[in-house]
Amino acid sequence: MPDAGAPIGVFDSGVGGLTVAKEIMSQIPNERIIYFGDTARVPYGSKSKTTITGFTRQIIRFLMTQKVKALVIACNTMSAYAIDEVEKEISIPIIGVVKPGARVAAAQTKNKRIGVIATEGTIGSGMYQRFIANIDKDVLVLGKACPLFCPLVEEGMLDDPVTDEIARRYLKELMEKDIDTLIMGCTHYPLLAPTLKKIVGEKVRLVNPAYETARELKEMLSDTGMLNPDDLAKQSKGHEFYVSDLADKFRLFAAKILDDPGLTTDKVDIEKY
Ligand code: DGL
Repeated sequence: MPDAGAPIGVFDSGVGGLTVAKEIMSQIPNERIIYFGDTARVPYGSKSKTTITGFTRQIIRFLMTQKVKALVIACNTMSAYAIDEVEKEISIPIIGVVKPGARVAAAQTKNKRIGVIATEGTIGSGMYQRFIANIDKDVLVLGKACPLFCPLVEEGMLDDPVTDEIARRYLKELMEKDIDTLIMGCTHYPLLAPTLKKIVGEKVRLVNPAYETARELKEMLSDTGMLNPDDLAKQSKGHEFYVSDLADKFRLFAAKILDDPGLTTDKVDIEKY
């Protein structure tokens, strides 16, 4: 059993999970994060459930070697496809992003019309629809897969006319259905929030599941007496970042997103796990 001073494993197919890591760092700054981004195999969004579940198991096996005390699946696709299976196989707590995102959106909608943009895998799994229906069966949930968003984010095209045009096309259908809430159901998408906001306007609220995920993590650690008692700011113990490929490209991106120019990134052969 790991102790309260142990780190938290946070993982995604690439840079998207950094939006969740950033929120965890802000809400529970004493916690140390071991981040893994599967940059060799991104994007996950159009791959099968079997493949994604296999990848998830490998990443968890790697993070367990880092003696983490809890895991956060900072990826909707892995949360939708694999969490039910993998949580039965491990002895530490694991949190995904889909349930927290569904909860916030259901609480926020006024006209009971919610849009979800996500990968093909997440939309196809119907997870957001199911979780929201469990909370309020009168809410209409409209899903739209946006497979080009993840590669655009991985390429750093966050503020670009090409991204604007693609976003406009993806969102057209949902906007015509009069949604008042839009879930960014892929952890890469909050990095496109300014572009998305420009298109949906003031009447539609964007939901980033990261905030609620970090809040749930904090509550779970607190309830189980596992919050890190050390003040990390007073020590030099930093977060650690690992990827399966292109460590330097990831490092530059992460340093910008997390505003940490000293951040380092190491490459891991994830197929070995
Ligand atoms: N960021 C991930 C998600 O939340 C995966 C994106 C991808 O690799 O396609 O779904």
